[in-house]
Amino acid sequence: MRTTVGIIGAGPAGLLLARLLHDAGIDSVVLEGRDREYVEHRQRAGILEQGTVDVLRAAGAGERLDREGLRHDGIELRFDRKRHRVDFPALTGGRSVTVYAQTEVCKDLIALQLADGGPLLFEAEALEVEGADTDHPRVRFRHAGREDVLDCDYVVGCDGFWGVARNAIPAELTRVFERSYPYAWLGILADVAPSHDELVYARHERGFALLSMRSPSVSRLYLQVEEGADAEKWSDDDIWGELERRFETEDGWRLERGPITQKSVTPMRSYVHEPMRYGRLFLAGDAAHIVPPTGAKGLNLAVGDVVTFARALTYKKETGSEERLDAYSATCLRRVWQAERFSYDMTSLLHRAPDATPFEGRLQLARLERIATSRAAETDLAEAYTGFPFDEQG
Ligand code: FAD
Ligand code: DHB
Repeated sequence: MRTTVGIIGAGPAGLLLARLLHDAGIDSVVLEGRDREYVEHRQRAGILEQGTVDVLRAAGAGERLDREGLRHDGIELRFDRKRHRVDFPALTGGRSVTVYAQTEVCKDLIALQLADGGPLLFEAEALEVEGADTDHPRVRFRHAGREDVLDCDYVVGCDGFWGVARNAIPAELTRVFERSYPYAWLGILADVAPSHDELVYARHERGFALLSMRSPSVSRLYLQVEEGADAEKWSDDDIWGELERRFETEDGWRLERGPITQKSVTPMRSYVHEPMRYGRLFLAGDAAHIVPPTGAKGLNLAVGDVVTFARALTYKKETGSEERLDAYSATCLRRVWQAERFSYDMTSLLHRAPDATPFEGRLQLARLERIATSRAAETDLAEAYTGFPFDEQG
């Protein structure tokens, strides 16, 4: 099999890239290791920056998003049993975010791709990228019990943190920057209307908690738990009890309980692989970088990477110049590091480390108090939360 761009992975990065290339008249083949059902139901991110919404709309994936997505103009910070609302449009010149689940983004993009895009092969596991430093890179893969080869002009590794694409970059050219956190998130889905109409990020002596949502009738909630915790060891009653304690306010706000339909534990990690390109192999999304989920940047970063790649390849097609492909890694990494910084700051602002000293606890409260009382500090948070520009080259 042969194509211009071989895409490994049908998460949000790979699926959107296939769409953007299709719209630019560039053919591609997507190889996805798992089946369609798995990809469409893997519960993950829920917050789309304005820039991500604009890109999805322009790619033709905006119809259901516009109908079912929930526009949010702010978040609430909760600490010391008090509440502080951050008003995004007022602080950023009109920007907001949209609540629309990653599962739904993937469903919409898969439907478009199968209707009029290039091949999207499920249960096609990439084994290795060969010849990344030549003009004819190849992806060896296994599909329907057979090994096959995809010959490409370019390969984009959108295969997430556990993928194989990264391995094709020689170790001596690679620098990895990483940090793990001594806690994790227990995430639940519950069949109950969200108890607040905006997201609530709570800092509490017992640990962090987050109230989010998937729809007007489905709540998504997260609880800081021990690193390596087992979701099944948490009973539904214990989860609700702990959430109630961490969200408690002095004004009597109430958390509504409901049937829990899913629970899982997510580890917290920061990770950046530099460079994001080697020859004709490009890395995008979680294949190149991971942020801890506080601040909801993972999916939005993946979108930024593939937009940058699609624009760079279109520029090459139109002008013959490789200038933007050459700048790919540096262009993406500027935005990646801003998101790494923000995600790290939000994480350390709101979580309680097992070895945290009382001094550090007071510093967290002082930083929160600063955000609540200084327009400059609050604007810094609002600008980062609603998103950094994708790539300056337009
Ligand atoms: P992925 O979504 O990981 O997609 C990669 C795809 O590649 C997968 O479909 C995988 O099956 C496929 N693949 C892997 N290896 C191969 C191979 N060898 N051959 C073929 N296909 C392969 N972000 C937030 O903003 N908020 C959250 O609450 C949040 N929760 C998360 C919870 C979990 C458990 C995880 C892992 C991530 C979470 N994230 C969250 C991050 C966000 O979901 C990711 O940043 C986003 O999915 C990145 O998209 P991606 O397309 O780069 O990678
Ligand atoms: C969600 C996840 C996040 O990491 C976050 O900061 C906000 C919302 C969510 O899954 O809804």
